[in-house]
Amino acid sequence: MSLVTTKEMLLDAQKNNYAVGAFNVENMEMVMAVIAAAEELNAPVIMQTTPSTVKYANVDYFYANAKVAAEKSFVPVAIHLDHGNSFELAMTAFRAGYTSIMIDGSHEQFEDNIRITKSVVDACHSAGVPVEAELGKVGGKEDDLEGGDGGYTDPQDAKEFVERTQVDSLAVAIGTAHGVYKGEPKLDLDRLSEIRKVVSIPLVLHGTSGVPDDTVKECVKRGICKVNYATDLRIAFTKGVVEVLNEHPEMIDPKKYNAQGLKHVKEYVMSKIKVVGAENKANR
Ligand code: 13P
Repeated sequence: MSLVTTKEMLLDAQKNNYAVGAFNVENMEMVMAVIAAAEELNAPVIMQTTPSTVKYANVDYFYANAKVAAEKSFVPVAIHLDHGNSFELAMTAFRAGYTSIMIDGSHEQFEDNIRITKSVVDACHSAGVPVEAELGKVGGKEDDLEGGDGGYTDPQDAKEFVERTQVDSLAVAIGTAHGVYKGEPKLDLDRLSEIRKVVSIPLVLHGTSGVPDDTVKECVKRGICKVNYATDLRIAFTKGVVEVLNEHPEMIDPKKYNAQGLKHVKEYVMSKIKVVGAENKANR
């Protein structure tokens, strides 16, 4: 099937109390791993790329990879720009055919975040492409993007932000952070419920690598409809490659060691599709 947008996917997840897994892909093998996992579990899936990923190989490469994966598949697939950090990059991905765009104005003041988010929403909605925004700051570091020390999402601000921007989904800061956690993350689940009470659009959880599965499930119960995983896919892929090269230092065929990376990523993605409850939600 053709690439789909995240709009219907996330609304269905919201209506039926599950979440869609959103997995950061950084090369062709990761795309292959994510689609293989989604197919095996009959799950809708979102592939996403950060600004640094699309700097490494431009949006057209990743769009093409995701498009081929989707067209050869029976599960719904969306390609999403993760943490779009400028209007220009958001438009580059939009023009390339990305079926979902995040504009991350969370580093800006409230009014500036509204202004930049609204400008992306106006452009993308003209072609039916949904937009994710972020309010409050998810901590940690993702690629070149510094999250800082957080700054949790205020429920009333979230309500006003969504009404004024008409954004389709909202990433909330409730204590998660990108990257590897030093200890167990403590999430402000009550805050999530408070946000849910006043914001009707699907909510997004960032920084999920390392968050215990039961906590993720609780977040989904409380209104999270899209769950982002990145760091753990990197770790899984690298582990697979290193395993093979340690055992066969003479190996020079990238297909052989990448295949082991692919295998590890596929297993990881399958386990998280189950955690978020997206298994068997493809044909809806
Ligand atoms: P992790 O790297 O912590 O999994 O975060 C992923 C993410 O939120 C992508 O936007």
